Amino acid sequence: MSDVAEFKKRIIKLKEELGAVIVAHNYQRPEVQDIADFVGDSLELARECTRVDAETIVFCGVRFMAETAAILNPKRTVLLTEGGAGCPLADMINAAELREWQRRYPRAAAVCYVNSSAEVKAASYICCTSADGVKVVESVPHDEIIFIPDQNLGHYISTQTKKRLILYPGYCYVHHRIKPEQVRRAKKLHPDARLIVHPECRPEVIALAEAALSTSQMLRYVRASSHNSFIIGTEEGLLHGLRKGNPDKSFYLISNDQICTDMKKTTLKTVVETMALRQNIVTIPEEVRVRAKQAVDRMLAVG
Ligand code: 13P
Ligand code: SF4
Repeated sequence: MSDVAEFKKRIIKLKEELGAVIVAHNYQRPEVQDIADFVGDSLELARECTRVDAETIVFCGVRFMAETAAILNPKRTVLLTEGGAGCPLADMINAAELREWQRRYPRAAAVCYVNSSAEVKAASYICCTSADGVKVVESVPHDEIIFIPDQNLGHYISTQTKKRLILYPGYCYVHHRIKPEQVRRAKKLHPDARLIVHPECRPEVIALAEAALSTSQMLRYVRASSHNSFIIGTEEGLLHGLRKGNPDKSFYLISNDQICTDMKKTTLKTVVETMALRQNIVTIPEEVRVRAKQAVDRMLAVG
């Protein structure tokens, strides 16, 4: 039996023993996405975690995503399949820095991208993801918004609303390093392809695209499109879902470094180890969890 087949067999057995559900983000390795019960973007994963009735949630992704699952599920055990899988963007702001910005802009509400720590969520008014950012900002009763930590998503939202957004200067290295010159080159190489990008890309890159979409929105966009080829401006893990759902369509990346190192830390081996040893349990102090849940619940209520 191959290693992969052996790992899969063990995962099925461990799932039964733990009463577990396995969820994975769209950027995970193909073989990891394939063993998951549910694969999605940040918003879908957060929603799915409010619906599960399993005792244990095995989270294949990065820490802030597993924390969101733990924020919503205090009675369930959440295991992160690689303890060291973080998000450098989420690490760009902490709660003390956010409070400093709140002192500077006392009339503004803090809207935090879900790519943030539980402490930062707890200090924010509401959360958002790349899929619902505009709706969330529109739902806030304030006219002024401190948007943290991703400047590019914040800038994109500011182009879709009349509210005044004060942007924190964070960024995702995977998306921010995609340059307009590279995009122009890719478009020249594939003149018939449609360009779709993630809103974590620079404004100059978004300006060249047909649409700025969350990862699952990209999957739906491609499926519904009559076009046959696409240039993809996000992490390369999404290609797996795109190819699986659209075997007759072609997909091209803009550059060869659209890779999130932390998303790739989870392997079938780390999934087995995490489940077998019940390790990497995600815990959040109750006082932080309750306040962070308010920000996440407000987002989920926006619909
Ligand atoms: P999505 O919510 O669009 O899947 O994005 C998550 C993320 O980390 C993007 O870099
Ligand atoms: Fe964070 Fe960027 Fe990786 Fe998404 S792709 S998890 S924002 S570092």
